[in-house]
Amino acid sequence: MAVNYDENTKTISINTQNTTYQMKIGPYGVLLHNYYGERISGEDMSYLFRYEDIGFSPAMGDAGMNRTVSLDTMPQEMPSFNVGDYRAEGIRVQHGDGSYALDLRYVSHEIMDGKYCLEGLPAMYADGTGEPGASEGNVVKEDFGKGKGRSRGKAETLKIVLKDRVKEFFVTLLYGVYEELDIITRACLIENREEETAVMDKAVSMSIDFLTADMDIYTFNGRHTMEREAERRRLGKGVTSIGSLRGTSSHQHNPFVILCEPETGEEHGGCYGFAYVYSGNFLAEVECSQMEMLRFTMGIHPSRFKVLLEKGRVFTMPEVIMTYSGKGLGRLSSQLHRAMREYLCRGKFKSGRRPILINNWEATYFDFNGEKLISIAEEAAKLGIEMLVMDDGWFGKRDFDESGLGDWFPNEEKLGMSLHELIERVKEKGISFGIWMEPEMVNEDSRLYKEHPDWAFALPGREPGRGRCQLVLDLGRECVREYVYQAICSILDTGDITYVKWDMNRSISDVYNRDLPPEQQGEAGHRYVLGLYELLERITSKYPDVLLEGCSGGGGRFDAGMLYYSPQIWCSDDTDAIERLKIQYGTSFGYPISAVGSHVSACPNHQNGRITPLHTRGTVAMAGTFGYELDISKMTEEDKKEVKKQIEDYKKYSDLIQEGEYYRLAKPEEIFMAWQFVSDEKDRSLVNVVMTSARANSPGCIVKLKGLEPGSDYREDETGKVYSGSSLMHGGYLLPKEMGEYQSYQIYFERV
Ligand code: DGJ
Repeated sequence: MAVNYDENTKTISINTQNTTYQMKIGPYGVLLHNYYGERISGEDMSYLFRYEDIGFSPAMGDAGMNRTVSLDTMPQEMPSFNVGDYRAEGIRVQHGDGSYALDLRYVSHEIMDGKYCLEGLPAMYADGTGEPGASEGNVVKEDFGKGKGRSRGKAETLKIVLKDRVKEFFVTLLYGVYEELDIITRACLIENREEETAVMDKAVSMSIDFLTADMDIYTFNGRHTMEREAERRRLGKGVTSIGSLRGTSSHQHNPFVILCEPETGEEHGGCYGFAYVYSGNFLAEVECSQMEMLRFTMGIHPSRFKVLLEKGRVFTMPEVIMTYSGKGLGRLSSQLHRAMREYLCRGKFKSGRRPILINNWEATYFDFNGEKLISIAEEAAKLGIEMLVMDDGWFGKRDFDESGLGDWFPNEEKLGMSLHELIERVKEKGISFGIWMEPEMVNEDSRLYKEHPDWAFALPGREPGRGRCQLVLDLGRECVREYVYQAICSILDTGDITYVKWDMNRSISDVYNRDLPPEQQGEAGHRYVLGLYELLERITSKYPDVLLEGCSGGGGRFDAGMLYYSPQIWCSDDTDAIERLKIQYGTSFGYPISAVGSHVSACPNHQNGRITPLHTRGTVAMAGTFGYELDISKMTEEDKKEVKKQIEDYKKYSDLIQEGEYYRLAKPEEIFMAWQFVSDEKDRSLVNVVMTSARANSPGCIVKLKGLEPGSDYREDETGKVYSGSSLMHGGYLLPKEMGEYQSYQIYFERV
């Protein structure tokens, strides 16, 4: 068993292959956080903590005159509230008698085979199959490890029940343990069993109190068309936080955080990763306290959040995926990649190569008809492209972005044919058909809005703010969800549609759920997210053969929650290969390469006007699901030849790219960017290099490879030259002399 309870020391230890996570039932029944890090032999790690009288930190009420036990200094597993702990708050609750208090004490624990599910929320699973429809409530699934018969999916669940010292108010901590993956998940259930309703206005899914605060934090920040730029900072005293209030996880701050020792690099040092499996408002807080301890919490953002906990109501908090690596950031990413790829993404497309597609957005924008799309399909098929995706503009009245959203019926007049005919004619060209939708939105200039103006978010008596001229349909309401579900089904039932790009093009504002009474409006934002998940669950269950690609103006909702429904997400609306290097670099810290939607687009680039070689655009797009987004009929014969070659290459390398080990070999600020894929067997490797500046009379550029077998020899595909793994890793590979701007190289090695 990975989870063990030691009766003598009252410690609960979770041991994964390389890590240990330990808790202790401490003085007065407080559940202490003892340790998280490199695997240790199992002793009680509480010797690291000193009980002392700390000035101005009151002792716990039931400790009487014992001055050495203060919740302000104890490393707790879930913080208490208004009973002497002044650090970043966890669960904030006001009971029926008006008292603000939470003083959590250990009640019981249980260790179970299998992985818990969370009612209505995405979560990692462990049965090895990943079929949609797995989350049936807050239950443990016992059927893990069947599926592919792989032991990797084996999981255990640890459930610890805590109770307020006075009130019948319970917090159940859930831990999912993936021993072989070095992954532990956390979530919690919050329940009031008092007669009177309790009000909760802040809740976290997890909290850890580290005993030392000497850490750096990595956050992944940005804006539309520049998402997830990695930023590393030293943590100082006080609270450092990131979060979103945009109703989505956002372009601005991704719900993924790394804490690491200051000396940690790609291949050395200790680091912790925390990925929130949630797509709405979130808050991640790190507090370095007076005693130089560090508290990390991740939860739903408390702003505009209020839940009435009537007697018996259980509130389920979303899951956090946690991992620790003592061997640097590269290993940390690799652990998360595998976990998300194999035990979070689901369905038919979670593994294996995804179709190489061409999307007409940057080729035509709104200006297209059926014949134009068929001509793109014909040209694309000749080059080996496998799917045409019809983007925005095919439905309702939509020739620009100010009207039509919500009216999910094909505009046959514009298309010049029915949707069914278009699908059939595209298929005749030898490629499959995919479609764009933005189901969460409505334009005021639409039939839907005229019929149901009250379905969009708006505050009473106030005109709602428009984003991209559109309003947000309140998916927290059943009537709205049902309409949207039926609308999507009617489109998907029209013909052989094998892919949907699910877009979402604004931040949410004016949140107000018309079905809820005033005192429950604090749930409106969370209910929207639950409604979205319910809708996605229904759609993915009904259409298991349809590949869903998530999108929110590019990567505005690139999070682990969405990956449960869509195994790939359009990474950014910035398709410039050079800016993409930065975006994809940042994304790679927390998310698998198989999840990164990436396309080759036209030059000059539509977002920043930069000109880059087609080969380089191909190299960069191959660090993802690969496709094209340009008017192929306008390409020269020479370019078409290059496209054909790229497609052949992608097919050859796709297993490495999608499922191989991924290594970051350079940082965006260097003279070149480089990354590498290595097969599990270490017998094949693809090295990718993009020169980011051209220099005259430059010294030679050497890139050091990673992950190869030092004692094996590898043949470079293009030149036939043989190198030993050790020389490639320790000496490196000499790149050709820079000539011209933004050159790129794909260097493929096979073991001889
Ligand atoms: C935003 C997406 O990210 C783009 O790729 C495109 O689909 C547009 N929306 C269409 O409106």
